[in-house]
Amino acid sequence: MQIAQRVKKVAPSLTLTITARAKELKKSGLDVVGFGAGEPDFDTPDYIKQAAKESLDKGQTKYTPVTGLQELKEIICKKFKDENGLEYIPDQIAVSCGAKHSLYNYFQAVINPGDEVLVPVPYWVSYPPQILMADGIPVYIPTDSETDYKITPELLDKYVTLKTKGCILNSPSNPSGMMYTEDELRALADYFVAKNIPVISDEIYEHISYDFPHVSIASFNDDIKQLTTVINGVSKSFSMTGWRIGYMASSIDVIKAVNKIQGHSTSNPTTTAQWATIAALNGGLDFVRTMCVEFKKRRDYMVDRLNSIKGMSCIMPQGAFYAYPSIAEIGMDSMKFCQRLLEEYQTAAVPGVAFGNDENIRLSYAVSMDAIKKGLDRIDKFVNNL
Ligand SMILES: Cc1ncc(COP(=O)(O)O)c(C=O)c1O
Repeated sequence: MQIAQRVKKVAPSLTLTITARAKELKKSGLDVVGFGAGEPDFDTPDYIKQAAKESLDKGQTKYTPVTGLQELKEIICKKFKDENGLEYIPDQIAVSCGAKHSLYNYFQAVINPGDEVLVPVPYWVSYPPQILMADGIPVYIPTDSETDYKITPELLDKYVTLKTKGCILNSPSNPSGMMYTEDELRALADYFVAKNIPVISDEIYEHISYDFPHVSIASFNDDIKQLTTVINGVSKSFSMTGWRIGYMASSIDVIKAVNKIQGHSTSNPTTTAQWATIAALNGGLDFVRTMCVEFKKRRDYMVDRLNSIKGMSCIMPQGAFYAYPSIAEIGMDSMKFCQRLLEEYQTAAVPGVAFGNDENIRLSYAVSMDAIKKGLDRIDKFVNNL
């Protein structure tokens, strides 16, 4: 069967090889430590599950409006107002099947062939393929640990052209865990406004922060708000990765375009999951705050241990649940490092090359403290024996 050109532009996920092999080793009876997790190791809170069960019992099992229930959109608007200081009306909200789907819809709705989208490196794995599938061109902006993997207006200026039609911001970041401060975001906002560059602000980890609170770039003034599409969802904050609910806030025009695309592809996200999301957003932030207390302990332990291993160094992640140590001094590419770590020490990590950066690896601390201790002992041994 013929495979379309657009699929050929996209490489298969590099992380899959490692994950598949880790599964194989586990199945064969080996004690594998997995640092690959991209989701909290906490169950979805009971009050959310309860709301889902009740919605089923009430027979709320039919189609909803394409981009989500009005009730849900209203609660999302309230969330934006209360938590981010952002005023939207329900017509500016589209609910989709996960934040990943919201991002996909955005690029499909906005990008024309040849449009350039700025992608700071390291990036979350799905941004470049999604831009490519919309016939756009990802323009990579390299960063390094010296600047905590952050972009600045000066750096951006080297990559902006007349074809620039967007810039991705992801704070807290997957994979590096870095978070922009309010001052840094204000400087970026001023630059985007001056250059009239749309911003895609992926704020999915907003509540998983340890040292200072997240601020949305869209909240500074009306100009930057008009240019920004905020992407968010319940996957990480409420440990609802499998429920597949994400959303975007944007201009009415963009939401109308997304409505068309979604209306001819998935239609509404699962009705039960939408009712569960209403309960989640109504239920406050106690759950995510409890998770953060645990994640912070693990972060502190993991980063401390990583920095004590000869040849490895790690910036202190301020949000999300990943550590992103550099292995540059070890002089091995990230794929080789991860393959050997898995085969020889039964420890699975994600190679940095998957995030556009071959001198790092990503370790998730959304796993138990015991697993973290065991896995870090193994990494220590592996690096020392090289
Ligand atoms: C930075 C970032 N954005 C978006 C997503 C997608 O989240 P969802 O599960 O809601 O599709 C993820 C998930 O790993 C992520 O890390």
